Amino acid sequence: MKAIIPAAGFGTRFFPASKVVPKELLPVGPRPAIQWIAEEAVAAGADEVVIVTSPGKPQLREYFSVDAAWRGRLAGKSAAEAELDRLEKLSSKIVFAEQREQRGLGHAVLQAAPQCRDAREPVLILLGDALVDGETPASVAMAERSRDSGGASVVGLERVPEERVSRYGIIAGKARTDDPRVYDLTDLVEKPKREEAPSNLAVAGRYLLSPAIFELLASQTPGQGGEIQLTDAIRRLLAFSSVLGYRYPGRRHDIGNPAGYLDCLQSFRV
Ligand code: UTP
Repeated sequence: MKAIIPAAGFGTRFFPASKVVPKELLPVGPRPAIQWIAEEAVAAGADEVVIVTSPGKPQLREYFSVDAAWRGRLAGKSAAEAELDRLEKLSSKIVFAEQREQRGLGHAVLQAAPQCRDAREPVLILLGDALVDGETPASVAMAERSRDSGGASVVGLERVPEERVSRYGIIAGKARTDDPRVYDLTDLVEKPKREEAPSNLAVAGRYLLSPAIFELLASQTPGQGGEIQLTDAIRRLLAFSSVLGYRYPGRRHDIGNPAGYLDCLQSFRV
């Protein structure tokens, strides 16, 4: 399985820190957020993780590059050496794609299309600023649901308070009777007005999507905010392919803003 972590955004909510520290590299315990996220992808079965970065964020490539000097520096410090082994093992599965213009999440995902050319099964997409805490990682649970349904696309969901639906992609769909966490999607709307939202179930940072999504993204016109929205392409996918929603267990932390990051530091289990 291929995984994509879009991490090319400007991070304006974290300005001025984001001038020099990409939000995806903010530490949560001893490891940067993106390491936890990439490890989640590997736990879910990804053998290659494509990180989409931008020319203004070289630090992401630097973090995952092998630096022999550290091996010498850490000699005899067993805890740190174990971390280095862990990081190098992960780095061997990481490749990069570049988004030169920040034209939205859908556009960022499209930049990883060449690396996913041979994908025959759904591709896992994990937002670079969303950490999910839980016994079973969200992506692992979603990959199981997809397999149970013959390789269907699955979007991760969470319930949000009604006054916040206008900040998210919101689904319309019916919960299954045999598993009320699983929904058969009938529609998907990006940032609806509160009175027009079809539910309070928001798409929440994790997606497992048919490779057909790349062709849809390539022809996707700009939507909300003038950006190429992933939600709009998923909506078109729904027209010819079944898409499930899965309300994953565990709590999502949006580390892309200072309050969300502080909250994550206090409760994420490292
Ligand atoms: P966000 O919308 O949270 O990131 O996208 P942003 O644009 O950096 O946020 P602000 O509003 O400026 O603070 C979620 C994820 O998608 C990536 C981001 O890096 C983040 O990990 N993204 C977003 C891209 O890779 N490219 C884009 O054009 C937009």
